[in-house]
Amino acid sequence: MTLAPEAPATPLIGSAPPSPAGPISAEEAATLPAPPQVDLPRALQVLRFNQRQIDFVFGARRRLGEVFRMQGIVPGGPVITSHPDHVQSLFTAKPEHAHSLTGESPLRPIVGPNSVLTAIGPRHLRQRKLLLPPFHGEAIARYEEMIVEATDRELDRWPLNTPIALAPRMQAITLDVIMSGIFGIEGTPERGTPEHALRRATKGLLRASTWRTAQLAELMNIGRDEPVGITKIGLDLLDRPTYQVIRERRAATDLEDRRDILSLLLQARTEEGEELSDRELRDELLALVLAGHETTANQLAWIWERLVRTPAAHDRLRDAVRGSDDAASARIVEATITEGMRSRPVIPIIGRRVLVPWRLGEYAVPADTPVTMSILLVHHREDVYPDPFAFRPERWDDDKPGTYTWIPFGGGVRRCLGAALAMAEQRIVLEAMARRLDITYVDPEPEHAVHRNVTMIPAAGARVTVLSRR
Ligand code: HEM
Repeated sequence: MTLAPEAPATPLIGSAPPSPAGPISAEEAATLPAPPQVDLPRALQVLRFNQRQIDFVFGARRRLGEVFRMQGIVPGGPVITSHPDHVQSLFTAKPEHAHSLTGESPLRPIVGPNSVLTAIGPRHLRQRKLLLPPFHGEAIARYEEMIVEATDRELDRWPLNTPIALAPRMQAITLDVIMSGIFGIEGTPERGTPEHALRRATKGLLRASTWRTAQLAELMNIGRDEPVGITKIGLDLLDRPTYQVIRERRAATDLEDRRDILSLLLQARTEEGEELSDRELRDELLALVLAGHETTANQLAWIWERLVRTPAAHDRLRDAVRGSDDAASARIVEATITEGMRSRPVIPIIGRRVLVPWRLGEYAVPADTPVTMSILLVHHREDVYPDPFAFRPERWDDDKPGTYTWIPFGGGVRRCLGAALAMAEQRIVLEAMARRLDITYVDPEPEHAVHRNVTMIPAAGARVTVLSRR
């Protein structure tokens, strides 16, 4: 009897058909149509985009195709695309052809217009160059021990057989990592010290930033260089201890032995040989805290929200990290994170303002148009990810993430500066949780996504019950 040859496994990763994109002349742009518009009243578009972005962008793509234009809070709302070739054209755009839209976000008055997050053009490249060294993979390896300790401390505290929301618990870990990695503040510092005041104020500000009133107040800050209203009051409370810590550290005699980012930045010099001013340091440090804390915590919460509802993936991970094959364990941890970031990207959309006419497939947009890339839509293209709504870490068993099809950290000269740190944190926390804890969901229904500031988070904070701990 001959055995029939095994049917080829259905590929779990494919590719999109090509679509031309990039800068074009005004004459060529005039020959191409503008992208179709979302056909809803403007107020409704803004509301739906902010409250239910998943339904909004998937609905618009179904009706209008992979490029469409919506109206936003300010006139001249963004075009939204989800084609990898369009993404590539924007990620690889020359700085004089496209600027990041974070420079126009409500973060601008909070961290100032000159931080790595908000600056554009040459100023952005200068700040990025200064900040790169402490974020390199090798530099990150030095923080790993501290992340392991912060994780174990936190896991030991979790109650058994009681529903808990993972997001705030993950934030406790990422706050420890940020305070230690960025400011060199370990654990809970002594009361009465600027370090203690800074940790408390940071925690308070991050908590307040989740309140609805704070989010509305942030909208008042759009387009400004300095904050107003309650945002200003909250920031003043944080600025005082921040400047105190900066001044004290500047006077420290052991800077060269210290590994935190503040100490490294105090020794950094620009190409012109200048050191960073207190204001520059404050802006950069605050940008890092804001960019790195909630994102990493909620990304981890999302991965668990998916895992506990996907027994095959959960079992595979648990078996791997509890087994003796370290290489297999590391591979499966990585695949689980990659799939989690694909299926629930905590930052669902990013953008550039194109400064010259731009082709996007069959359409063209004029100079000075905000063009956004829906990370959510890119990550759910059926031609790239068959069965896109399924959580299948095994997609990544034989495939590496594509530069323009897996984009939770953005790309090009604006790619997330903290990506290596965020990956290290996720690897350590995911591995420790899967190895030490038996976890199950509280409600079998998937959690909705809600939007907080620029992030997309699980509505109930990823509620789970820890059944046992080893
Ligand atoms: C899972 C966690 C994280 C996710 C999903 C994430 C995602 C992103 C995304 C999508 C961008 C915009 C990229 C673009 O426009 O192309 C970004 C930028 C940035 N992120 Fe992250 N991030 C994470 C963690 C962190 C951490 C831990 C830090 C640092 C402590 C950090 C620091 C930054 C900075 C400084 C930028 C601005 C880079 C620039 O404009 O040059 N992020 N991040």
